Amino acid sequence: MVDKKLASLIHNQVFFHGQLNLLWEGGFEELLPLNDDFIQGLLSFKDKYLIESQQFKEALDLVTKKVLHQLWQVNQYIDIRKEDTERLKAIYKETFQSINRDNASSMMEKHFQHLSQWIKPFYQPQMVEALKAQKQIGQVVNNQYSGEFQLSQFDLELSELNFPLLDIGCGEDAGFVEYLRKHNKEAYGIDHLITRPGSYLWEEHWLDFDYGKDKWSTIWAHMSYTNHMNYHKSHNSPLWSGYAKCFKNILDSLIVGGRFCYCPSVPMMEEYLNSLEGQPYIIDSPHPNRICITRRH
Ligand SMILES: C[S@@+](CC[C@H](N)C(=O)[O-])C[C@H]1O[C@@H](n2cnc3c(N)ncnc32)[C@H](O)[C@@H]1O
Repeated sequence: MVDKKLASLIHNQVFFHGQLNLLWEGGFEELLPLNDDFIQGLLSFKDKYLIESQQFKEALDLVTKKVLHQLWQVNQYIDIRKEDTERLKAIYKETFQSINRDNASSMMEKHFQHLSQWIKPFYQPQMVEALKAQKQIGQVVNNQYSGEFQLSQFDLELSELNFPLLDIGCGEDAGFVEYLRKHNKEAYGIDHLITRPGSYLWEEHWLDFDYGKDKWSTIWAHMSYTNHMNYHKSHNSPLWSGYAKCFKNILDSLIVGGRFCYCPSVPMMEEYLNSLEGQPYIIDSPHPNRICITRRH
């Protein structure tokens, strides 16, 4: 468990600075005046714990998770993989190792520059250019929806679902999975941010997850995977082909008769699947933009 006082310092620091634009190219002091309470708290923690201690490792995990959470609040489409998370953690570790009472101000500036360098490659060059002159950055709503609401989107009753079910991009609190578990159903979820990872909730990037073969009776992706898939398609992103391949892996992980329910739709993908010889899939659209694909053989 992370020291309570430190956890609250981390939380406040990330929360209050969550809207700062890391790509701003104006003066650092103007953007981020030094917060003495935060620096004092950080240094007293540093006096107390060794850099290789478990406490320190957990604090690094916490700060990384909070920062990622905040970044995805600002831009849900930035695609951060495990190795990127490790590099982010290394930036925090280095700052923490080097900071002291005399160099706090210059270290914070350096830290900001490192974060800025780290985040730049996730944005297209024209976006980096446009954001240079902007101190603050907006926030998107990355909502989670109730179990009942999600079922209604596909005109489904709970009794019409088959299990095991995997919810891709299930949300930090995995509302749908928890709802199903409360009804004694075998449900699992993955998301790159999970509040309480455990035996049925996995914190993973959906392109890195091993879906298996002939395994799931239902796969669910409500306002998650295909939303990002469409984003990468419309931005000609190099990630599109990875999303398309993974979409096929998801279908292969269904048992025969299993169903992949998702929204929004990906018209190009559905047209392609419909055109396949031997019609291996039945594609239903219970509402516009809501799709259920059943594997026939
Ligand atoms: C709009 S929310 C929808 C959550 C949930 N499906 C619902 O409807 O309540 C999208 C979810 O996708 C997750 N997500 C985004 N990119 C992801 C990725 N690369 N790998 C795994 N999860 C991701 C986000 O963390 C977020 O929880």
